[in-house]
Amino acid sequence: MSVHKKKDIKRITTHVLKAMKQQGEKVAMLTAYDYSTARILDEAGIDVLLVGDSASNVMAGHETTLPITLDQMIYHAQSVVRGVKRCLVVVDLPFGSYQGDSKLALASAIRIMKESGAHAVKLEGGEEIKDSIKRILSAGVPVMGHLGLTPQSIYKFGTYTVRAKEEEEADKLRRDIKLLEKWGCFGVVLEKIPSTLAKEVSESVDIPTIGIGGGPHTDGQVLVTHDLLGITKEFNPRFLRRYANLFDGIKEATEHYIQDVKDRDFPSEKESY
Ligand code: KIV
Repeated sequence: MSVHKKKDIKRITTHVLKAMKQQGEKVAMLTAYDYSTARILDEAGIDVLLVGDSASNVMAGHETTLPITLDQMIYHAQSVVRGVKRCLVVVDLPFGSYQGDSKLALASAIRIMKESGAHAVKLEGGEEIKDSIKRILSAGVPVMGHLGLTPQSIYKFGTYTVRAKEEEEADKLRRDIKLLEKWGCFGVVLEKIPSTLAKEVSESVDIPTIGIGGGPHTDGQVLVTHDLLGITKEFNPRFLRRYANLFDGIKEATEHYIQDVKDRDFPSEKESY
């Protein structure tokens, strides 16, 4: 029986994720930002919910992930935690809350853990944020890394295209993932890198790698839930598989409701007191 389905696993922990990698079972991860969605995804059996700073895009309508604040991330994380019983909840440290100052990084991570009840935090970067990662880990807070395309650095990259195609950047990623493992991170997201590199670095570490645009060989996959459900429409990268078309579904339901109100069809006698 898969680790994921074992009856005695009441909660997915970072140790369960490691066991899943050892047993060759893929990790399924999605984003969530609110209570109601988190409930549905948890009941469906998702392993990990990421309170991603992609909330800045899909919840708040910003162009990048940079504007979202620590207070806003905590609000989203609190809502998600209230909705789940089983999955692991990981929260993104937002831009500006951990880079350059490890004491600030620890204070941000502690606020997230204390005020939301989430189980772990995620930070973008490798060697360059070493002090922040090590200080957070030394306080007993589980850390997930994030390498490859790191959207908080979009103004440095200039574009959202595939990262680490050149040897120099690929070599840095190879070094960074080993460092993240050595420091004690429990997993790492690999975003938009060549599939061959994702395979190679996934095999080079014992911690699970979770890919988004990293091909089929990572130890798990993550997508932004709004993309998977087809709530977003214009975002169509090659790596995205849509499992529903809720944009049109919600629009049609809304049009139907508007028509019923205008036609005095809603509410009926039966729907009245
Ligand atoms: O914020 C986010 O949704 C993420 C995923 C894309 C991994 O970091």
